[in-house]
Amino acid sequence: MSEISEKPSPQQIVKTYLDVALAQPHLKPANSEQLVANIKLGLQQHNAALIAHYYTSPEIQELAETSGGFVGDSLEMARFGKQNSASTLLVAGVKFMGETAKILSPEKRVYMPSLEATCSLDLGCPIDQFSDFCDAHPDRTVVVYANTSAAVKARADWVVTSSIALDVVDYLDSKGEKILWAPDKYLGSYVAEKTGADVLLWQGSCIVHEEFKARGIEDLKKLHPDAAVLVHPESPKPVVDLADVVGSTSQLIDATRSLPHAAFIVATDQGIFYKMQQACPGKQLFIAPTGGAGATCRSCANCPWMAMNELENLAALVARLGKAEVEQNEILVDSSLADKAMKPLGRMLDFASSRKV
Ligand code: 13P
Ligand code: SF4
Repeated sequence: MSEISEKPSPQQIVKTYLDVALAQPHLKPANSEQLVANIKLGLQQHNAALIAHYYTSPEIQELAETSGGFVGDSLEMARFGKQNSASTLLVAGVKFMGETAKILSPEKRVYMPSLEATCSLDLGCPIDQFSDFCDAHPDRTVVVYANTSAAVKARADWVVTSSIALDVVDYLDSKGEKILWAPDKYLGSYVAEKTGADVLLWQGSCIVHEEFKARGIEDLKKLHPDAAVLVHPESPKPVVDLADVVGSTSQLIDATRSLPHAAFIVATDQGIFYKMQQACPGKQLFIAPTGGAGATCRSCANCPWMAMNELENLAALVARLGKAEVEQNEILVDSSLADKAMKPLGRMLDFASSRKV
């Protein structure tokens, strides 16, 4: 058998990790108040800031907000980690977010409650295969989504997040550049359709957003005809086509604030409801259906890797700060890889600040 055929396909890699992640159910611990108090004290003692994504549990988001940390989308998390004066960053999210924080702030210690918390887009884009893909298309500008490994970022010309992808690709298209896009095929085709750019797609997907069903949303709209439909662009085209607003997590939260509608059907991870409820108190929020009649969903609008951020393992991490055992939670990025990845990441941050995104 040849060496290539022995390598698992990106789909097989994702499935192996997903089976492990889904075997770990999340329960709110009985002693959560004590854990929260311990975590807050530990953060203060170690000059550490907690940075959480909107998909983490309500208790983790609340803790980030009330401890002087931050809750945001992946672009905002990256910016906060770089600008904040804390010497230690605790990232409650998935691995690419921790790696991005480390690349942008090499002088800071970056830890995560679980280093197993990954992402199907990152898993589905292994560096060897991706590098071959890039080598086969040397005439294209390589644009990768932030949901990728440091090695994939290091191979790219640009990194983008969902809040800035359209602007960056539109800009590159205006300069006549052809794009190689990875890894999310749905976000990539949405960007290609909106900008008219020539985009060659890597075939990755998010296992959470891929499960939203257009038919289910149409049925829910019949029950709530006045509800606006809010969709994250990692969703399939038939779902995106039903949207009143397509955007990053922060852009969807802003939409609940700015739109006049009293109800919203939301096609993204349910963790976002914590912030949406704050943004539009009194309005109704419905999660977009993830299965048609008789279908079963694997993630049910809950990212299994985001769910690996729990109060218990966060408290255990905080208790290890300042001790040798904290190594098991540390995010490390090879320095030559980090230097290379910093270029396309820096380009994104500079572009974002020039456009005020
Ligand atoms: P945002 O950049 O919109 O926060 O998205 C990150 C993500 O992982 C969505 O699934
Ligand atoms: Fe990755 Fe999807 Fe989870 Fe976001 S929701 S971290 S894209 S698997």
